[in-house]
Amino acid sequence: MHSTILVTGGAGYIGSHTLVALLEDGHRVVVLDDLSNASPAALARVGEIAGKPVQLIRGDVRDGALLDQIFAMHPIDCVLHLAGVKAVGESVANPQKYFEINTQGSLALFSAMQRAGVARAVFSSTATVYGAPEFVPLTEAAALRPESPYATSKLAVEYMLAGFARAHSWRAINLRYFNPVGAHPSGRIGEDPLGEPANLFPYIAQVAGKRRQILSIFGNDYPTADGTCERDYIHVCDLAAGHVAAVNYLLNHAMPGECPAVNLGTGQAYSVLQVLAQWQATCGFDIAHQIAPRRAGDVPSYFANPAGAQSLFGWRARQDLARMCADHWAWQQQNPHGYNAD
Ligand SMILES: NC(=O)c1ccc[n+]([C@@H]2O[C@H](COP(=O)([O-])OP(=O)(O)OC[C@H]3O[C@@H](n4cnc5c(N)ncnc54)[C@H](O)[C@@H]3O)[C@@H](O)[C@H]2O)c1
Repeated sequence: MHSTILVTGGAGYIGSHTLVALLEDGHRVVVLDDLSNASPAALARVGEIAGKPVQLIRGDVRDGALLDQIFAMHPIDCVLHLAGVKAVGESVANPQKYFEINTQGSLALFSAMQRAGVARAVFSSTATVYGAPEFVPLTEAAALRPESPYATSKLAVEYMLAGFARAHSWRAINLRYFNPVGAHPSGRIGEDPLGEPANLFPYIAQVAGKRRQILSIFGNDYPTADGTCERDYIHVCDLAAGHVAAVNYLLNHAMPGECPAVNLGTGQAYSVLQVLAQWQATCGFDIAHQIAPRRAGDVPSYFANPAGAQSLFGWRARQDLARMCADHWAWQQQNPHGYNAD
């Protein structure tokens, strides 16, 4: 069954790759994005890759009147809710922004869905809802101890969506992403961070691309194999495929009222030094780096048990670290200043 999917935040990093995957699977898409952290060029390029134009409605997910119009004009079968803000450090300094955009924005969206009778939703949550883990790999049953306003603003939405699902017989899923990296293999869409990147891959990419001088590695005395922190990096195209699998599950198999939380990760942890070594092999040159003091809040090792996604909707990650680096590097080389040149 091919359906019409409203993708909030569709012009962003994960959203743009998810649009390609949805279109390639035969779905129709409508995008709502205020472009606060995205470029319309990303959607133009999604259209090029998929061979179909993508309709953007520029607006804020908190705008209930606009949402009512969208649901009145388009026969939406399922909502993929990616719009939001995502910087942990910024959320500590400005929690209000995170609760307004992430939490109130989701409430406005779910309320408009309820008014319109739209009863399927996938929410972009985050693995940071687990906080500092007692055990790895993390299953969905692990304790939830969000440590930042960002993680709290997301966990509140998970509970909110589960409440709407139960009360109104929706079919819904909360997806907990681990560390999305890489880019579409065409090199046409990818991550385009504003300012200094907060994450390892875009930082390394900008050092390799000579936009930044040196990579700082925050601590090499953690209790891991080489002393640097280990994370579960997942290729953004695998993540996009996970969204399509989740949507198809909601359309075809889910029971009314259900709203499971599902990890999207690979189950494989790589250390900062392992990632750096793969980047250097991919680029064919050394990437300047230095050891810096530990950062507050970093945990040694964080990775998923991804078995839940496999058993619920038959998805697992397929791309390896070499592919993640190669695709991210191709995007960086072809777009040294992101979408700015368009
Ligand atoms: N990238 C990650 O590491 C990561 C990890 C876990 C979860 N997530 C979540 O996944 C989602 C997508 O992340 P991303 O990396 O693609 O981020 P992104 O910033 O590239 O995409 C978010 C999109 O939402 C839009 N947006 C922001 N506020 C909006 C508003 N009020 N109304 C309408 N549109 C708005 C932005 O313009 C942007 O296009 C976010 O909700 C994020 O919290 C991301």
